[in-house]
Amino acid sequence: MLWIKHSLIFRWSLAVFWYFAVQMTDISSLKAEEKHVSRTPAGPEDARLAGGRGPCSGRLEVKHQGEWRALTLRGREAGAQANVRYALVACRHIGCGSVVSIEHNSNNTDSQPAWEVNFSCSGPESALQECGSTSARKRIHGKESWTSSLDVICSESVRLVGPADRCQGKVEVRWDQGWASVCEEGFQAEAQKVLCRELGCGPPGSFSGSFKKGEGLVLSKQFQCKGNESHLGDCASSTRNNCRTAAGIACRSVNELRLVGGETRCKGILEGKQEGEWRPLTDSLSYLRPEDSAKVCEHLSCGGFISTSGIHSPKRHRVWELSYDCRDRGPSECSAWQESGSDSLRTVSCSEGVRLVDGPERCSGKLQLKSTGSWVSVCSGSFTPEAALVACRDLGCGFADRFDGRSLGAQSQIWGPLFQCEGTEKHLVDCPSTTLNATETDPSECGNTFLHCVERPRQPFANLYTSQGPVDDKNTEVLKGHRFAISCFYASPYNVSSIRLRSGDGSDPSSEQIKAPNQNEAVFLFPAAENYHQGTYQCDYNFDFSKEIFSEPRIMHLTVKDLEDVRLVSVQSRCAGALEVQHQEEWRAVSFLHSWSLREAAVVCTQLGCGAPVSSSRVQLPGAARPAWRFYSDCDGSEGALMGCGSVRKWLSSSGSTQVVCSDILLRPNRPVISTRGYYDEQEQDVLLFKGHSFSLNCSVEPQYPGGSFSLMFTGSNPTSYTLPAVNHSAFFRFAAAEPAHQGNYSCVYHNYVFHQNFSAEGQSLSLILQVDYDVMLDDGVLREDDSEACAGRLLVLQEEWRLLSTGSRVWDLKHAALVCRQLGCGSAASTKQIDLLHNTPVSRFFSDCDGSESALMDCGSVQLWFSSTAIEVVCTGHQGAAGRT
Ligand SMILES: *[C@@H]1O[C@H](CO)[C@@H](O)[C@H](O)[C@H]1NC(C)=O
Ligand SMILES: *[C@@H]1O[C@H](CO)[C@@H](O)[C@H](O)[C@H]1NC(C)=O
Ligand SMILES: *[C@@H]1O[C@H](CO)[C@@H](O)[C@H](O)[C@H]1NC(C)=O
Ligand SMILES: *[C@@H]1O[C@H](CO)[C@@H](O)[C@H](O)[C@H]1NC(C)=O
Ligand SMILES: *[C@@H]1O[C@H](CO)[C@@H](O)[C@H](O)[C@H]1NC(C)=O
Ligand SMILES: *[C@@H]1O[C@H](CO)[C@@H](O)[C@H](O)[C@H]1NC(C)=O
Ligand SMILES: *[C@@H]1O[C@H](CO)[C@@H](O)[C@H](O)[C@H]1NC(C)=O
Ligand SMILES: *[C@@H]1O[C@H](CO)[C@@H](O)[C@H](O)[C@H]1NC(C)=O
Ligand SMILES: *[C@@H]1O[C@H](CO)[C@@H](O)[C@H](O)[C@H]1NC(C)=O
Repeated sequence: MLWIKHSLIFRWSLAVFWYFAVQMTDISSLKAEEKHVSRTPAGPEDARLAGGRGPCSGRLEVKHQGEWRALTLRGREAGAQANVRYALVACRHIGCGSVVSIEHNSNNTDSQPAWEVNFSCSGPESALQECGSTSARKRIHGKESWTSSLDVICSESVRLVGPADRCQGKVEVRWDQGWASVCEEGFQAEAQKVLCRELGCGPPGSFSGSFKKGEGLVLSKQFQCKGNESHLGDCASSTRNNCRTAAGIACRSVNELRLVGGETRCKGILEGKQEGEWRPLTDSLSYLRPEDSAKVCEHLSCGGFISTSGIHSPKRHRVWELSYDCRDRGPSECSAWQESGSDSLRTVSCSEGVRLVDGPERCSGKLQLKSTGSWVSVCSGSFTPEAALVACRDLGCGFADRFDGRSLGAQSQIWGPLFQCEGTEKHLVDCPSTTLNATETDPSECGNTFLHCVERPRQPFANLYTSQGPVDDKNTEVLKGHRFAISCFYASPYNVSSIRLRSGDGSDPSSEQIKAPNQNEAVFLFPAAENYHQGTYQCDYNFDFSKEIFSEPRIMHLTVKDLEDVRLVSVQSRCAGALEVQHQEEWRAVSFLHSWSLREAAVVCTQLGCGAPVSSSRVQLPGAARPAWRFYSDCDGSEGALMGCGSVRKWLSSSGSTQVVCSDILLRPNRPVISTRGYYDEQEQDVLLFKGHSFSLNCSVEPQYPGGSFSLMFTGSNPTSYTLPAVNHSAFFRFAAAEPAHQGNYSCVYHNYVFHQNFSAEGQSLSLILQVDYDVMLDDGVLREDDSEACAGRLLVLQEEWRLLSTGSRVWDLKHAALVCRQLGCGSAASTKQIDLLHNTPVSRFFSDCDGSESALMDCGSVQLWFSSTAIEVVCTGHQGAAGRT
């Protein structure tokens, strides 16, 4: 047809022509001679590429029923093969060259209606309306994720003419208002390279096609290319009319990769081009290994691989799916991609223009920069810590830990630019740079830069110091009562902002101290060690350029050891005697010299848990002078350990040794032990007593010194104390009848005179609670509203339960009845007799060891369950007894 050869310039007038020629909605307006053109009433009338960078790229739109709309393909017709045929015909239709790429644009935010068509092209058609026609209908773009428009790029000034294949055919170049063939001469490897690149195909391949060689004597173009031009039109060319025209050429069909939607061309969603069509490249069966993703970076001439991840898209996309054949091969090395639909996409992130090579891991190695298309090394002599910081950040590798230069000797080398970074830049290219003047560079100062980045700043170093000096790493032990300090430091070219020491485990640090470092070091001081200081300590730091990120912590487990390195030697007490100190595993006496005073004695008494110092004096040891410790003091008396505030050195003592007497020299007496008929338990602090019973309290102490005395201290409503001399290390305090006033706490204090001093020691206390009730009662059958007692009636005794007292006891007499009356406060006994019960009932049989002087019946009696039909009645002379009831 005539119009295939029309030029781009008059394409638009043709479009207008077609508008009138094929519009079917308004047939009446057509001129008679044009009516024969509209043989395909359902297909589109014209095509164009809209919104692209030139007339040969953009969204494929068709005119149908007089309206230009994006073209969207229906379901089955949307396959890659069909798409490329569409695009081929469309490019030809609008007078452009071959198909460079196709892309689905599913940005449906504009929600414009599109023409949805299902006609199919077979490739050689010269216009879209020649494609197998069926129907087109208006569809609101965007209802379905599958409905996407096609963005097409056609070549503008070269094309391959032939069967339906994008990358092979007879070469033609745009010339004047049409297309011309090219001369075979000059169209060698370089020109083919340029051509294939321009057409978005792979490198030139061998082609044994069926294109006839040109016959010559046609106006043709002859090219001279260098091979690095991006368009054939950039090559030198001349016009010939007598050359042999080139036959068909073939470029290899190679799959391409790209990363889209990221901040640089080296970051984003992985896409692949196959058969001219760009689609996301997915890997839903996870054939890709991380090193395969790294090959993508290499393939794209980006820098180092940073990361890859799968992302979920809200829309389903037409994708290329990696197949089984792609296992263990990079996506670029495997072309077995399958057409598919998916909503899971893959992102790959690579650095741009910077990479680390020859390293043991991704974030460590020789630093290289991209300079005019090739990778060059960085001169270590002029590399700065700030640039290292930026380089690691740029590589997605966290923090610069260190860098070093490996000299190359006299070897000459091309060096990358010299960066002057502030340290805060995101990418190395953001830093101002200067080119290194290679002739000025001293090769001995320029080595390859090896850079080591770490995810988090490395852990600092930490040292523990105690009053005895530095403590080695393995034995992080502090003696109780000794001061200690933890120092943390980190040598770095960067300024450490703060150093932090936390105690407790990481999840719940119980205390935290933060210090500004001095020369990247901070020292944390602690007072005398106590048990609670034992535990885990973590030290870390942050840099001033990333305050929110703390380094890996250095962890130290501190043990507080209660070292018994001081003792007082005497026979009776550990709290008084000749002082001995253990140092370097040797126990020695301490010489009594200038530095010794009650202050030092106070520390000894505290360390031994012996209270306050009472005296300290020199004692002459028998025999000749012997080695002792000479003590050097820096104590103020408040310390908890003698060796925490002093030091010792060996000394041949002739001056006698030191004796210390502390206040807690006497052993503590025991808790008073009670004897009574009441219920009590020696382990319990509280004792329950029945009213009226006698009780006694026994104070005692472990044998230590002979003699001494005990005081029983009573704290209650009426505090008093009773003192008795100690007999056999104990004293026995008796109380006649328990009364409410006896309720309170009792403790024993032991006194003794030793070391020419009066000492005393108090023991734990016992708490006496009085049972308000009696354990005997007389029942006269009268219910009383107050709690006064009856003084005549049937006698009941409490022993687990209340029971009548049997008359079967032969010992029962008026003397016993008198005990009851006295106990109940009912005067003396008037009479006691037997009363009859109707039946044999459970009663208590009474046993006695009484002499009549006791204050309570059950102080000297005992009962056991028995059965009887008689019981005892008692009448006392008390007021109720006087009232006369028998
Ligand atoms: C989608 O299309 C609208 C209008 O054509 C445009 O403004 C927007 O940037 C596009 N969005 C994307 C993600 O391409
Ligand atoms: C196109 O669509 C029409 C109606 O929707 C249908 O009858 C026809 O078979 C389709 N053609 C092709 C090639 O799928
Ligand atoms: C192509 O390479 C030559 C040297 O071979 C160079 O002079 C020229 O600038 C290069 N052109 C492009 C576009 O890179
Ligand atoms: C490099 O240094 C040499 C020697 O100082 C000087 O002659 C030359 O001009 C410098 N070249 C550049 C590009 O600065
Ligand atoms: C470190 O701190 C010093 C003093 O504040 C400052 O002069 C220097 O520039 C800082 N160095 C870095 C690398 O920030
Ligand atoms: C008092 O207690 C001590 C120590 O338990 C004991 O030896 C002593 O016999 C007791 N004295 C009396 C009178 O129970
Ligand atoms: C007795 O000691 C207990 C605790 O040991 C205390 O709670 C109570 O108040 C004391 N009683 C008196 C009267 O001191
Ligand atoms: C003290 O104990 C000794 C031996 O256990 C004993 O012979 C002596 O009688 C006791 N003295 C008194 C007063 O209980
Ligand atoms: C020790 O106590 C006893 C009895 O209380 C007293 O007589 C004596 O004077 C005291 N001795 C000294 C040195 O305080």
